[in-house]
Amino acid sequence: MTTIDAAASGSFKIGGDIAVHRLGFGAMRITGDGIWQQPRDREEAIRTLKRLPELGVNFVDTAASYGPDVSENLIREALHPYRGMLIATKGGLERPGPDIWVPNGRPASLRSDLEKSLKQLAVEQIDLWQLHRIDPKVPAEEQFGVIASFMKEGLVRHAGLSEVSVAEIEAASKFFKVSTVQNRYNLADRGSEDVLDYCERKGIGFIPWFPLAAGDLAKPGSLLDHIASGRKATPGQIALAWVLQRSPVMLPIPGTSKVKHLEENVAAAGIHLTEAEFSELDKAAKNRN
Ligand SMILES: NC(=O)c1ccc[n+]([C@@H]2O[C@H](COP(=O)([O-])OP(=O)(O)OC[C@H]3O[C@@H](n4cnc5c(N)ncnc54)[C@H](OP(=O)(O)O)[C@@H]3O)[C@@H](O)[C@H]2O)c1
Repeated sequence: MTTIDAAASGSFKIGGDIAVHRLGFGAMRITGDGIWQQPRDREEAIRTLKRLPELGVNFVDTAASYGPDVSENLIREALHPYRGMLIATKGGLERPGPDIWVPNGRPASLRSDLEKSLKQLAVEQIDLWQLHRIDPKVPAEEQFGVIASFMKEGLVRHAGLSEVSVAEIEAASKFFKVSTVQNRYNLADRGSEDVLDYCERKGIGFIPWFPLAAGDLAKPGSLLDHIASGRKATPGQIALAWVLQRSPVMLPIPGTSKVKHLEENVAAAGIHLTEAEFSELDKAAKNRN
């Protein structure tokens, strides 16, 4: 049996400083339905987290709002003191109920989110803290300004943004160095190509969320399905391999609550598409948009 190792995805230095394997893990799915409260199978969620270092995964994405609090607390329980792992988190979203997400970018609220994450993850500094959403109700400069303060105070080492445009990255960059950008992106959803190209030019890590989605590109008889069966892989693995090959700054964080799915996802790090496969998939995805 071949070894499953996230190292096969190559590495990237967050903020030009902390090296991680490019294939990471999204810890939103280790919570209950609606990203609310405890997961249905808590023991399996813990086993999934504990399996990460064994599979070479050393980049984990979470948020204070996942659960809320549940994801960060499970990560601490399973992985603290995180030897060789970078645990990235996010703040700026309130959770009044299941599936409800409300931006709150008031500086005092961002600070309280950060303080909670520091406590829940049991660290003195967050290696990568990301603003989950720019709150349209609060001047962006106030939100960026408080992030710059977090960094000056040593509470945050590197900072990033989520669901942003190139103009917003440039505006934030006047206040702090933007090390990562996390936007929705996958083979079938290419709305952030301009942001990805910008990140590649600037050496900013691009974290595509929902990386496994391939929609009708994955249905039986589709090109993705055809390539997958030819390689004894799943369409999801080929979709991940494609995303990884799309750019050297790409840091996909597929999320799962199950060891079996985690192993399957990490195995995608070892799949290298031929140039022809890569561009045929690219063309098929663009044609359907
Ligand atoms: N910045 C943002 O606004 C934002 C928004 C959403 C997500 N995120 C981050 O991005 C990460 C990934 O996003 P995502 O979780 O929405 O999308 P995803 O990773 O593309 O898909 C996750 C879903 O696919 C299932 N799955 C995972 N591996 C599978 C496999 N091998 N076979 C079959 N099903 C599989 C999971 O269920 P099982 O648990 O059953 O495996 C889960 O329902 C999140 O965990 C989170 O950290 C960020």
